[in-house]
Amino acid sequence: MKHFTFSKLRLGFLLLPFLAFLLHSCETETVDSTLDQQIAELGLSGLPSVAHPLTNPSNSAKIALGRMLFWDPIISGHKDVACATCHHPDFGYSDGLDLPIGVNGSGLGPSRTENTGGLQLSEPIGRVPRNSPSVLNTAYNGMTAAGNYAPESAPMFWDSRMLSLESQCQGPPGSRSEMRGDGCPEGIVFDTIIARLAANSQYAAAFNVAFPGGDAVTRINYSKAIAAFERTIVTNNSAYDRYLRGDQNALSDQQKKGLLLFFGKAECNNCHSGPMLSDFNFHAMGVPDNPKHPEGTDRGKDNLYKFRTPTLRNLGVTGPYLHNGMLSTIREVVEFMNDGVSQNGYVLSGMMDPDMKPLGLTSEEMDDIVAFLESLTDTNFDRTVPGGVPSGLPVGGNIH
Ligand code: HEC
Ligand code: HEC
Repeated sequence: MKHFTFSKLRLGFLLLPFLAFLLHSCETETVDSTLDQQIAELGLSGLPSVAHPLTNPSNSAKIALGRMLFWDPIISGHKDVACATCHHPDFGYSDGLDLPIGVNGSGLGPSRTENTGGLQLSEPIGRVPRNSPSVLNTAYNGMTAAGNYAPESAPMFWDSRMLSLESQCQGPPGSRSEMRGDGCPEGIVFDTIIARLAANSQYAAAFNVAFPGGDAVTRINYSKAIAAFERTIVTNNSAYDRYLRGDQNALSDQQKKGLLLFFGKAECNNCHSGPMLSDFNFHAMGVPDNPKHPEGTDRGKDNLYKFRTPTLRNLGVTGPYLHNGMLSTIREVVEFMNDGVSQNGYVLSGMMDPDMKPLGLTSEEMDDIVAFLESLTDTNFDRTVPGGVPSGLPVGGNIH
């Protein structure tokens, strides 16, 4: 008898935590399914596969050539800067700096320093005036909320002043602070680059394979190869994407709450909409100026202090944030959006975007939004660094 009671008791003790667990999981399931139902009603969708311009279909030879060009400082005036100097996979194809350091810099990421490259220049070169955006997913720039986009006119830069990856990559070599320095006059920068590439037998061969049919080493083919490579560095498998594809456990409850706030009370999607979480439109947000800016202030699009809404994908690896890198954590940016007031003396309240307004979010709600934003990072992208580049110069420029 005594023995029996003991066993019953013991069984009860063993069952208690199990029952508690059952009850708990029932409860989370209800919270979960309500959230999931609310999210389903938003009709969100993830990124489709990459589209290529009709004039630049992709193939492996182009991609391989584009990757070499991206990593090779041979395309810079003094052969010290590559695209990868400011768009490096260790920093999510950005550079980890508020404002980039191009010509005559040395080092990589936040530890890169200016005017330490040992060049004799006509005048010193300061910071590049805007934060280096990630190249990840630029293949999708311009995507509408409905998921449509045209690669031949995809907007590039914080003010969308260039259209398509093919035109964008023809810009940096001509910029004195980014890549040219005093290496050659701006007007002949591509003549110089093309002559260098044509004189290199490995490049000449790679251009001929990628662009068969004669006269392969040209500025146009340079741009097509780099763009074809950039269209391979995409991420569409973040926790958010997996959730939208039906994996209901891909997001935590906190992230789901954050998602609902983002698309609900906080109305972030007035500007951060569609699969890229950007309307690719321009807004005056009153971001404070970066004192390192060469002219002291950046007037933005049409001198109205407007900047293009950035994508929110891969924030986890692309800080610091905003067009001038003035905020270093995601939480700080969310607080800035929540305050909703201009922090720039030139941006008077009448100039501010009407959707940039005080939101009254609680600290916990901001934590939830930060958690949701973290679900938009996908670190599974090409992080490989080539073992060498055809010029024999340091891979990625003066970053070592
Ligand atoms: C010295 C740093 C630096 C170098 C070198 C550099 N970039 Fe950039 N890149 C930037 C900055 C800064 C911007 C934004 C400029 C602006 O908005 O005015 C940018 C913008 C871009 C964008 C547009 C991203 C978007 O979403 O709008 C792409 C694509 C890009 N760069 C690719 C390249 C390629 C390809 C090369 C080499 C040919 C290159 N960059 C060289 C700093 C650099
Ligand atoms: C009125 C349009 C608008 C609204 C509403 C808005 N944003 Fe933005 N967001 C922008 C613009 C424009 C920028 C870039 C501003 C700049 O750099 O000058 C930006 C920048 C950001 C960045 C930095 C991204 C990067 O890579 O630098 C984050 C993070 C961000 N917003 C999150 C949010 C969140 C979260 C909300 C809602 C609480 C929100 N935004 C609401 C337009 C908006």
